[in-house]
Amino acid sequence: MTEAILLVGGKGTRLRPLTVNTPKPMVPAAGVPFLTHQLARARAAGVDHIVLATSYLSEVFEPHFGDGSSLGLSLEYVTEDEPLGTGGAIRNVAQRLRSGPDDPVLIFNGDILTGLDIRGLIDTHTTSGADVSLHLTRVTDPRAFGLVPTDDSGRVTAFLEKPQTPEEIVTDQINAGAYVFRRSIIDAIPTGRPVSVERETFPDLLLAGAHLQGIVDSTYWLDLGTPQAFVRGSADLVLGRAPSPAVPGRCGDRLVLESASVAPDAKLTGGTVVCEGAVIHSGARIDGSVILAGAVVEENAVITSSLIGVGAKVGARVALTGAVIGDGAVVGADNELRDGVRVWCDATLPPGAVRFSSDQ
Ligand code: GDD
Ligand code: MG
Repeated sequence: MTEAILLVGGKGTRLRPLTVNTPKPMVPAAGVPFLTHQLARARAAGVDHIVLATSYLSEVFEPHFGDGSSLGLSLEYVTEDEPLGTGGAIRNVAQRLRSGPDDPVLIFNGDILTGLDIRGLIDTHTTSGADVSLHLTRVTDPRAFGLVPTDDSGRVTAFLEKPQTPEEIVTDQINAGAYVFRRSIIDAIPTGRPVSVERETFPDLLLAGAHLQGIVDSTYWLDLGTPQAFVRGSADLVLGRAPSPAVPGRCGDRLVLESASVAPDAKLTGGTVVCEGAVIHSGARIDGSVILAGAVVEENAVITSSLIGVGAKVGARVALTGAVIGDGAVVGADNELRDGVRVWCDATLPPGAVRFSSDQ
């Protein structure tokens, strides 16, 4: 038996307005709540018991996943009244664990899309005899992450969360958000107050001489914390570049869920997903984008690398690139929106209100 803790209580601030009505792990990627991909991958790696540590919008998880039996899992939910931080959340679910003091317990951040060999991580943890093992990946700009330098044997020498100064950028290896903890280490985290596993637990363990083992694995890895990353991750799932047993259909250039309706001459490419009940009208061209349930895209709209929220409406000839349109928002015809624009839930943009080009 292998068990895991999933950290899903964050506010998802950087993903707003996607996370106004929906917690980050429940925003659909490739047609299903993102969390489904993580749960299915954990199941495929032999994990059978998972405790979800929830906080923000906690009430939506259990009605959707229930006891987990439809995924072949036993799922439990623990909600924090006040957010306890990553370490506090881990400690707060300890009483639900069934493992013995020396058993390995997996812990995952709830917003990571990865091809990590989960079994391999546990095996290396066991053979190295580490107290904690961390999946590490290399990125070109590590500033938004936890930096984790290691020695020749992969042993962690420091943990620098979100480095502020150039001197702190000592490595391109970052914490990839998947750990194996010896159970007894979890029980030793203080209770009853917020604790950051990155800023407090890991540095304290290192000071105390604990063995933290880094495991660098360079398979597919993406933190879906920003709209651009979320849209990229969904497209990669649809395209089959990111592996998941939970994609509801065959991988390819597009994924159209059954109850969606797409005009025969609309063009869907680059891993675009069209969710339940969404309607794509004639002449629309949509590349590498996410169209959530019930959204409507009107004639000849051109949408690239964007996310259209639940029930939102994109008018005729609208051009969107790198845009997020919140749930229920209406973008009137002939608008042109680009690069990082976020239209808030239920907002209405009159026709022709925003342009970047002087044509038309
Ligand atoms: N239950 C609970 N309670 N969960 C929380 C809380 C909390 O108070 N705070 C955050 N979480 C969850 C989030 O939902 C997310 O799944 C995970 O913990 C990490 O939080 P993020 O807010 O996404 O952190 P980050 O992306 O800035 O940084 C973390 O992930 C990076 C890799 O993507 C850190 O672990 C970095 O060290 C790491 O490099
Ligand atoms: Mg994150």
